[in-house]
Amino acid sequence: MIIDVVGAGSLGLLYGGKLQAAGECVRFWTRTSEQADQLKQNGITITQSDEETYVKPDEIQANPISQLTNHWNKKPGDWILLTVKQTHVEDFIEMMATLEGQQHIKIACYQNGLGHLEKLQAALPQTLLCSAITTEGAKRSGDQVYRAGSGETQLGWSNALATVNEIIIEEQQIFTLAKVLRQAGFDCTVSNEIDKLIYRKLLINAVINPLTAIWRIPNGELLHKIERVRMMRQLYDEALTVYRAMGVQLQGDLWEQIEGVCQATASNTSSMLADILHKRTTEVESINGSIIRMAKQFNLKVPTHEMLFHLIQGMQSEGVS
Ligand code: PAF
Repeated sequence: MIIDVVGAGSLGLLYGGKLQAAGECVRFWTRTSEQADQLKQNGITITQSDEETYVKPDEIQANPISQLTNHWNKKPGDWILLTVKQTHVEDFIEMMATLEGQQHIKIACYQNGLGHLEKLQAALPQTLLCSAITTEGAKRSGDQVYRAGSGETQLGWSNALATVNEIIIEEQQIFTLAKVLRQAGFDCTVSNEIDKLIYRKLLINAVINPLTAIWRIPNGELLHKIERVRMMRQLYDEALTVYRAMGVQLQGDLWEQIEGVCQATASNTSSMLADILHKRTTEVESINGSIIRMAKQFNLKVPTHEMLFHLIQGMQSEGVS
């Protein structure tokens, strides 16, 4: 299978590296040509506890993203794993709009937050889109990726898309991708409840990400002080009020699930903190921003989300050192 991994951050390198090591044909599409050259020079090393996966330089196909459409028109791929942040989805859309034969494109979208699926579907109506919700955690340092335990990945088609365009859901294709991911060492299943998983992940991100970014602490430290837990609880309660108004029903004790994620990813730098530390634009707009927009539709107030949203937005342009 030809798999195009768009975005060579920690998640992209983890998925792409493991898939290549499992014998799939992976093409990495990077933001800069320097990044592509580096991958081709050094290969990729993925470390997980005492296990190491090494993809040799001569096995790596990597090019800057600006060349994707050119390559694709000559040799289309089977699946695109879109692992860029929400903040780069629009650049991807702009580029893909010039592509021929869009009906053959299948994209698995790994973004946090809400909004990207609808944008992608509106811009690329013939494309098959699926959502990938993952609890995989990875850190990257150059061409080295550290996998923080094995997470779970669930793939599925979002109902939100059916209203944008009545695409024929080719279910078999998604099962094939899930099988390929399993063969590469990912715990991957197909879910017919992906929307619930999207809302669950949104809640987790809306609670954990802004607070870890403001306090600059790893996820596990959130549970170490009562003041921090109180703030988490406030964000949680506000978001749940919005979900109730929307009729979003999620299974299980969600508060326990958030605590569980903090524990399971205790040493992780959340993606929002990583963005702040690297002076990148964060995904706060599509995470806490989505909660705020949904609350407005129901005349609900979510003051803690609003406060954190503005605090994070205020940090972004300057960054911290
Ligand atoms: O965005 C992130 O960092 C992750 O989704 C999560 C679950 C908060 C773990 O770090």
